Amino acid sequence: MKIAVLGTGGGGRAHAAKLSELGHDVVVGTRDPQVTLGRTEPDFMGTPPFGQWLAGHPGIELLTFGEAARTADLVINGIDGANAVRELTAISEHLAGKTLMDYAVPFIYNPEREHPWPTPWGVMPALDPVDSDSLGERIQRALPETKVVKACVTQEQDTVVEPQAIGGGDHTMFLAGEDADAKEQVAALLRAYGWQDVLDLGPIVSSRGMEMYAHMHSAIQFALGGARFGIKVVR
Ligand SMILES: NC(=O)c1ccc[n+]([C@@H]2O[C@H](COP(=O)([O-])OP(=O)(O)OC[C@H]3O[C@@H](n4cnc5c(N)ncnc54)[C@H](OP(=O)(O)O)[C@@H]3O)[C@@H](O)[C@H]2O)c1
Repeated sequence: MKIAVLGTGGGGRAHAAKLSELGHDVVVGTRDPQVTLGRTEPDFMGTPPFGQWLAGHPGIELLTFGEAARTADLVINGIDGANAVRELTAISEHLAGKTLMDYAVPFIYNPEREHPWPTPWGVMPALDPVDSDSLGERIQRALPETKVVKACVTQEQDTVVEPQAIGGGDHTMFLAGEDADAKEQVAALLRAYGWQDVLDLGPIVSSRGMEMYAHMHSAIQFALGGARFGIKVVR
């Protein structure tokens, strides 16, 4: 399948590499390919420049967000939470009729709004929207012709694409969305990643809980000294 991963961050790279390994035809989207390839310094999270990563992944092509989405059958959103709705709306014509798996968290890195919770990378960003709305819902409202499926939000990128590395893979992945066929398409992709327990949380409104879990995820991660972990829904 031709799959577009919109986003050049750590999450986008993890999905792109895994999908390529699984035999898919993968393109990655960015604002401006020349600018992205011209970067030589790691970002504030310490993620190495994208060009360095791309050199180690021959066969993966870097295009603009719009071009990447236009040529794909399935699209993954990894544009950061603060900018995703605007960027996706601008290319809505290339997303119409397609499944869009969204894994972004609506973190806002605004110093005036950050709450005083020190983290290894600075102060914890705030969530916006939160509680009475979510990024997943906003994207679905902005793209009524697109089948949005929220997934992969509750895990680190490395674990998303390699669930077996934690507890032999015996933990839970969540998804939510309005379209049953789109959710099955995403569930199939997650099973190909190695997920055995994919729990459908129902309509896209469940994005609220998945996104709000972000702070709990960080709290557990700090308690474990940064170690990778999974969460399991025990029935
Ligand atoms: N990494 C994880 O493990 C993980 C797990 C779950 C959820 N998430 C969430 O998923 C989202 C993506 O995370 P990530 O780590 O893969 O990447 P990221 O570094 O948060 O975001 C990278 C993407 O956002 C775009 N971007 C940044 N600023 C922008 C702006 N002002 N206007 C338009 N686009 C902009 C970048 O465009 P360019 O390519 O043009 O620079 C890039 O493609 C985040 O919301 C994150 O919190 C991450």
